[in-house]
Amino acid sequence: MSTPQRVEHQLTDKGHVPVYTTAVVEQPWDSYTASDHAVWRTLFRRQRELLVGRACQEFLDSQDAMGMGEDAIPKFADLNRQLQARTGWTLIGVQGLLPELDFFEHLANRRFPVTWWIRKPEQLDYLSEPDLFHDLFGHVPLLMNPVFADYMQAYGLGGVKAHGIGADALAQLTRLYWYTVEFGLIDTPDGLRIYGSGIVSSKGESLHCLESDAPNRIGFDLHRIMRTRYRIDTFQKTYFVIDSFEQLIKATEPDFRPYYQQLAEQTSFPAGEVQSDDRVFHRGSGDGWLLDGDV
Ligand code: PHE
Ligand code: CO
Repeated sequence: MSTPQRVEHQLTDKGHVPVYTTAVVEQPWDSYTASDHAVWRTLFRRQRELLVGRACQEFLDSQDAMGMGEDAIPKFADLNRQLQARTGWTLIGVQGLLPELDFFEHLANRRFPVTWWIRKPEQLDYLSEPDLFHDLFGHVPLLMNPVFADYMQAYGLGGVKAHGIGADALAQLTRLYWYTVEFGLIDTPDGLRIYGSGIVSSKGESLHCLESDAPNRIGFDLHRIMRTRYRIDTFQKTYFVIDSFEQLIKATEPDFRPYYQQLAEQTSFPAGEVQSDDRVFHRGSGDGWLLDGDV
């Protein structure tokens, strides 16, 4: 099992995406090569160094607490003992991206699918689909946080529901995942910090989202997010900033059915456009951030 078993390519609104077998696979830990472990070590070191002072402290502390280190590709079984004790989540091995409903059902049952294979040494900076480094380094640490762990499960349950409603509801819910779980920023007393998995697993985006003046950073607004399209082939044009994980769970607690109905009558926003009532973060004179209207 040294190459991922691709079963088909599926045409979606994002183009052709690979779809793999939905089977749960045992992590083939003994067949990782020295080169696989070296890729993990190189990426782990590089990102950890970059993320101190950039990622939120919950992310960094959780990663340490679960014993995820640079030495070798972690064993899912070892991480599962920590997750079980802390929040009851279980990592399961998969070949790659799953069909949406399968993915939602795993989350709804507190199972997080992790791609078993890791990228090649020539793909350190970019690859177009999730691999073990993105899934494990990026997504798994925050599953140790009780509030975020609950949010992920609630998202899964919401996904099963949206799937039954239709394609538009599903697309709107997916935007929420994209702008929180994958590309979210959080406002802390020390400044803006990263919590999104798609950012923490990418050197370029970790720098871009905080250091570049190109993207917009907009205060979290559930409806605004569910109306906002996104780019999958380049750095984000807009990041949404939460105040806390509690804010996330509170805002997403209500039944989304009326929201989907309401959104059906509204147009979507382009990825990079600022709307008149957005709360926009601006860089202050020091290294801090100011929100529109704040003094
Ligand atoms: N409350 C949402 C619903 O009824 C479910 C949800 C929770 C969606 C958390 C996203 C995140 O559909
Ligand atoms: Co991801």
